Amino acid sequence: MRQKFIAGNWKLWGTLDQAKALVSALTPALKSSKNRFLVAPPYTALSAVKELTKGTSLLVGAQDCSNLETGARTGEISVPMLKELGVDVVILGHSERRQFHGETDKLVNEKIKLVLKHGLEVIYCNGETLAEREAGKAAEVVIRQTKEAFAGISEADLKKITIAYEPVWAIGTGKTATPQDANEIHQVIRQTVKELYSKAAADAMIIQYGGSVKPENVKDLMAMPDIDGALVGGASLKADTFLPICLFDQ
Ligand code: 13P
Repeated sequence: MRQKFIAGNWKLWGTLDQAKALVSALTPALKSSKNRFLVAPPYTALSAVKELTKGTSLLVGAQDCSNLETGARTGEISVPMLKELGVDVVILGHSERRQFHGETDKLVNEKIKLVLKHGLEVIYCNGETLAEREAGKAAEVVIRQTKEAFAGISEADLKKITIAYEPVWAIGTGKTATPQDANEIHQVIRQTVKELYSKAAADAMIIQYGGSVKPENVKDLMAMPDIDGALVGGASLKADTFLPICLFDQ
């Protein structure tokens, strides 16, 4: 049985006061669950959130990083800087990075390699746009993205990677993929991992679903055989909505 992994991506939300209040509400409630949990606050709140999660099971993630360790990249944050703060996981390849910051699969691949080199974990995001889905290309897109993202990555390194399937048309729109539609693409991704590596690697891979996950739909999504968790945006910003998602099985 794969362990369920629920992550909250705060995106452009979270002053220090908001971050501290939310994390303080989450940690005691999550204590007794066997699932795995993470919050990914903005860079400015990472240090405070890491401090508050010390001694708890809540992991702390960054939402991106530079593809360089140091150099002339005004405004960027490097993996060693994140490591220094005790960050556990870096989210990479999110569709908002691709859409608004021009990130390519090649750049995402470089970032994954750098994060792994420094011993941190990765949540790697992929997913098709509405136009790609309507053109019947959803499977083709995630296969291409997964192959390019994992180029040059060893099977041993896969243990440090979680995949998040996030159909772009379902993000922040209130439109969730049906559990069946999501599971179908999760199977495609798992099959791709099998072809690139092995059945054992594919069976062990944690594949999260992301896109308008809410307390109302989480149970049906998590009941699907190839959906191993969730990457949650909007509903992760309040304990009232994030906790029922995290504790969907209680
Ligand atoms: P929403 O849950 O707000 O649709 O966001 C999903 C997402 O992009 C998480 O990374």
